[in-house]
Amino acid sequence: VEELYFSWKDQIMDIVGRWGEVGAPGKYHVVGVLGMGGSGVVGDYLALLSNLRGGLPVIVSKSHLLPRTISSDDLVFAISYSGNTLETRLAVEKALRIGARIVVVSSDGLLEKLAAEKGVPFVGVVKGVAPRTALPSMLFAILSVLDASGLGVVSRGEAEGVAGFLGDVMRDAVNAAYDIADFIDSSKGLLILAGHSPWEALLVRGKNEFNENAKIPVKVDVAPEWMHNDIVGYEKPYKFPACVLAVKDPGDRVGSRLVDFMIDIYKGLGYPVKVLELRGASDLEKLMYGSLVLGLASVRLARMRGIDPLATESIHRYKSMVNEIFGV
Ligand code: PA5
Repeated sequence: VEELYFSWKDQIMDIVGRWGEVGAPGKYHVVGVLGMGGSGVVGDYLALLSNLRGGLPVIVSKSHLLPRTISSDDLVFAISYSGNTLETRLAVEKALRIGARIVVVSSDGLLEKLAAEKGVPFVGVVKGVAPRTALPSMLFAILSVLDASGLGVVSRGEAEGVAGFLGDVMRDAVNAAYDIADFIDSSKGLLILAGHSPWEALLVRGKNEFNENAKIPVKVDVAPEWMHNDIVGYEKPYKFPACVLAVKDPGDRVGSRLVDFMIDIYKGLGYPVKVLELRGASDLEKLMYGSLVLGLASVRLARMRGIDPLATESIHRYKSMVNEIFGV
């Protein structure tokens, strides 16, 4: 599984080699991203980048429902690694019905078929891996389509640079990941992923990685919102073992100070704390570095616990019943 993370550079270079082949030029009000789990979180990453870089507003929907804020004037990415996820397919059907401009991103499956049948633009991503490990392929596929549509927030040159960066930091990322896994395993409590804006999406991605690969529940705490609610919950918590992985952008003085404030409170409760500092020269590099370290740490933790990181039995159980639940 580690190999799948080591190959992230290649995933990006594969998309760079096909950069701009698929586009959907037009005038849109918003960009919608419909997807679940390891695919849906790509929408959160796009929203983060678009917010920071002044792209179009991004509406992410992880649901079978289609937000009414998405209309026929909008560009919608239907993203599902397998191409078969029911919630995503139901939302896409609704988006097709209202006449939104759709682009399908998947490795295979019913969505690829639907794209061929309806003449919808399609971008294929890396095949035969676990959905969550295809993060770079799916993210850069969308970034490439946006660039080819005149709505780019990331250029081909920047994408290539990020691939090189990931190659350069791989060894350090592995070391950081192993330290984090040791730390979590020695604490054996609820993992709290603490961090600051604008990195909410990275923290959620980290949560998903530890859920799916290491099979543990995770709480996400994000400053400064944390200071307006969660903080009070730490005044009189029921006693439970916990450990905190605090994620900081060292280039953000306020963000780092906010996290230091959180760390004081966690330490006051006796929770052990470890800090992960994001590396990289840009928001995108920091996002990819953080994703790599958290992903590798979750896989390492799974190994330490004698667990298969790839197996996601409960998701399969849910997916085997999902048609019945939705009545389709
Ligand atoms: O990472 C995973 O395996 C899951 O979170 C899947 O991404 C999720 O179940 C949705 O499936 P898909 O990505 O195939 O649409």
